[in-house]
Amino acid sequence: MQALPDSLCYLNGEYLRLCDAKVSVLDRGFIFGDGVYEVIPVYGQRLFRFQEHLSRLERSLAKVRIPNPHTEVEWLERMRRLVTEQASHSDAPDHLVYLQVTRGVALREHVMLEGLTPTVFMMISPLRPASTEQRRQGVACISARDFRWQRGDVKSTSLLGNVLARQISADQGAAETILFRDGFLTEASSSNVWIVHEGAVLGPPKSEHVLEGIRYGLIAELCDELNIGFNLRPISETEVNSADEIFLSSATKEVLPVTRLDGEPVGHGAGKGKPGPIYARLYEAYQRAKAEQSL
Ligand code: PDD
Repeated sequence: MQALPDSLCYLNGEYLRLCDAKVSVLDRGFIFGDGVYEVIPVYGQRLFRFQEHLSRLERSLAKVRIPNPHTEVEWLERMRRLVTEQASHSDAPDHLVYLQVTRGVALREHVMLEGLTPTVFMMISPLRPASTEQRRQGVACISARDFRWQRGDVKSTSLLGNVLARQISADQGAAETILFRDGFLTEASSSNVWIVHEGAVLGPPKSEHVLEGIRYGLIAELCDELNIGFNLRPISETEVNSADEIFLSSATKEVLPVTRLDGEPVGHGAGKGKPGPIYARLYEAYQRAKAEQSL
């Protein structure tokens, strides 16, 4: 096993070294994957879109009926302490805060027992951005059937479906697995997926099959700012295969161009197999938003 970092983490009211943090084997997060999580980018020492991440955390907790153990101010205080501490130790310019709330510790029983104290865990690690090469050339993706469960809208720590999906592309040396349910695009194993069609950005509608990435709102805003059409509607596999551009979005990938899908170059004409112009404009705008929208 790799040595665990000795960076500061937060566990149930205590700040301690990550390598020393321990939870009970009866934690329902361990036994059932009964918990939810968030991944928040930190640029410099500023949390990017903190409010949006916290609102999604609230929604995930409500959907799985785990009480929110902290107020917004308490979450912010705790995250800031990790960020400040990490900044004094790390050479990395940017970081990610990972936070997880599980239903708590109890004897194994499927029913949601009342009165449990949720387990709260938070850690911070360097954000590894996409490489210059990936940004210049784009990445390869593989398509697969979306065989995960029907509640992709919950940002749940039960990620075995996503892990299995991701491995399909990893086994082929590709960056992501793009998923289709009944012939329509849902998302990728750990990112949202967008296509460009006739100059407009299209994304799958928000539904129980798709995690509403924080970049859903952000990309809509950036398109608005740049006068690029933006539309959420069902997107067939045929449309994805014949798209002008495809790109991924997530906290870590920001926006990232897909230039090969199942071995075929994406796009048409001179731009075929290369990152497209809409991606390039969104990427620029995203970099500006990072400077403006962090807390
Ligand atoms: N993944 N869809 C899935 C299944 C995801 O896991 C993620 C993020 C997204 C994009 O959401 P956002 O824009 O809020 O990052 C979409 C995170 C980064 C992860 O699990 O590490």
